[in-house]
Amino acid sequence: MARKLFIAGNWKMNLSAEQCTALASELAGSVGSDWPVEVALCPPCVYLSVVRAALDGSAIRLGAQNVYCESNGAFTGQISPGMLVDIGCDYVIIGHSETRHTIEPDEDDALINRKLLLALDAGLNVILCIGETLDQREQAQTDSVLDTQLTAGLANLQPASAETITIAYEPVWAIGTGQTATTDQAQQAHAFVRARLAELFDPVAANGIRIQYGGSVKPTNAAELLAGPDVDGALVGGASLKADDFLEIIKAGLQNASQTSGTAV
Ligand code: PGA
Repeated sequence: MARKLFIAGNWKMNLSAEQCTALASELAGSVGSDWPVEVALCPPCVYLSVVRAALDGSAIRLGAQNVYCESNGAFTGQISPGMLVDIGCDYVIIGHSETRHTIEPDEDDALINRKLLLALDAGLNVILCIGETLDQREQAQTDSVLDTQLTAGLANLQPASAETITIAYEPVWAIGTGQTATTDQAQQAHAFVRARLAELFDPVAANGIRIQYGGSVKPTNAAELLAGPDVDGALVGGASLKADDFLEIIKAGLQNASQTSGTAV
């Protein structure tokens, strides 16, 4: 089964309302609706509606950067999956390394799993981020970390819902550092993830799940990183803040995909 390339921009805590509108509008006008790629933009949550309006009529999807694990109630400052659906979100990122390790040190796999199940229940597509720290890689723990994060993050997920999940393999040491995994390191981790997905669900479901690479993806390294057969797209932080750079990354992915399938882009 051919997996459609999926490139998502994670704008993190950047840009103003005006800048969000300008960037989203430029991308909406540049990404062809017939391009064989899914593109999503994940602005700060206060600008989701602003970006939704700017994307009106375009094929670009809208995503949030996080969500809470309850539907409603006394949870000051939190946002529920239903609220994200209500304002037109298609995707939500869950388990980003910055929420696992930097912002909410208490975001463990059990909490991530609660968020994921509730988000799916509300009708959102989930991008589940997993990845090892430098320390863990150096101690040869990459596979076991990915295994734990994947198994616990996807616990109790019905196989039928598997297709609404995207996994983002984001080595923590490569995020915002300018360091990237090599093509081989990325492919190796992605192949491991796919093999585990086949065990958790079944080979057919695993074959349909997209696995993005994330961590300092730039126009200069995108083609290389996206070359692996199990690398189905990218979750892009810094380089998604400039329309030209983000478009170049999308085009690098499309170029790879067309070479593999022999179809013209
Ligand atoms: P980066 O961020 O591209 O700036 O490294 C990627 C991410 O955190 O998703």
